[in-house]
Amino acid sequence: MNCETPSEEILSTSASVGYRDRIVLVTGGNSGIGRAFVERFVAEGASVVACGRNETTLQALKAAHPSVEARRCDVASTSEVDALAEFVTRRYGRLDVLVNNAGVMEQVNMLAGDVDEAAITREIAINLTAPILLVRRCLPLLQQARRPLIVMVTRATPCSPRGVPRLLGDQGWTARLYPGAALPATGQWYSRH
Ligand SMILES: NC(=O)c1ccc[n+]([C@@H]2O[C@H](COP(=O)([O-])OP(=O)(O)OC[C@H]3O[C@@H](n4cnc5c(N)ncnc54)[C@H](OP(=O)(O)O)[C@@H]3O)[C@@H](O)[C@H]2O)c1
Repeated sequence: MNCETPSEEILSTSASVGYRDRIVLVTGGNSGIGRAFVERFVAEGASVVACGRNETTLQALKAAHPSVEARRCDVASTSEVDALAEFVTRRYGRLDVLVNNAGVMEQVNMLAGDVDEAAITREIAINLTAPILLVRRCLPLLQQARRPLIVMVTRATPCSPRGVPRLLGDQGWTARLYPGAALPATGQWYSRH
């Protein structure tokens, strides 16, 4: 599978036919950016499955959009991701769009003596490992679709958890963004001045 910027053909096709009758899975669709994705896909006529861990926001999503399948799923749990994929398999038999949006931003102070290593591990599990495993788990479903699409929602600074810029900045380092193919910026490097 190639990883590339969506072609003009895909973008123009999406714009002209919309997402009517397409099956869309949005992780973290119960709030924030994910919920905005869900609402846009619903407005376009897609069948949307949204997942998250918080029952209250899942129920609020369901109340506002009864057609949405709001499912509890912790994307960092292999068994819960398996159950979610099995639900999509039973219900729809394919997946047209996977939006890997669920993510957390831990407040880790690298300068503190008692850095919470469990928080770092948790952030990597949710933000990095989970999307990889979800794509792997959903590939058979995506391969049943005519024009499968995977959307990765990420930060422009994937290599720099909060705390790293502060730590390096205090020691005279300057952060620079470097441009990527699909996003305005996909990483950072640091130089000492
Ligand atoms: N806000 C920004 O400025 C910004 C900028 C660039 C990129 N992003 C990225 O955009 C994505 C969404 O950000 P946001 O601002 O909308 O954040 P948000 O409001 O905190 O929403 C995060 C969503 O992810 C879900 N989530 C977190 N951990 C999960 C887990 N283990 N399993 C399932 N769902 C989980 C949350 O639901 P539950 O709590 O119910 O699990 C929630 O729906 C993130 O990946 C973030 O890194 C955000």
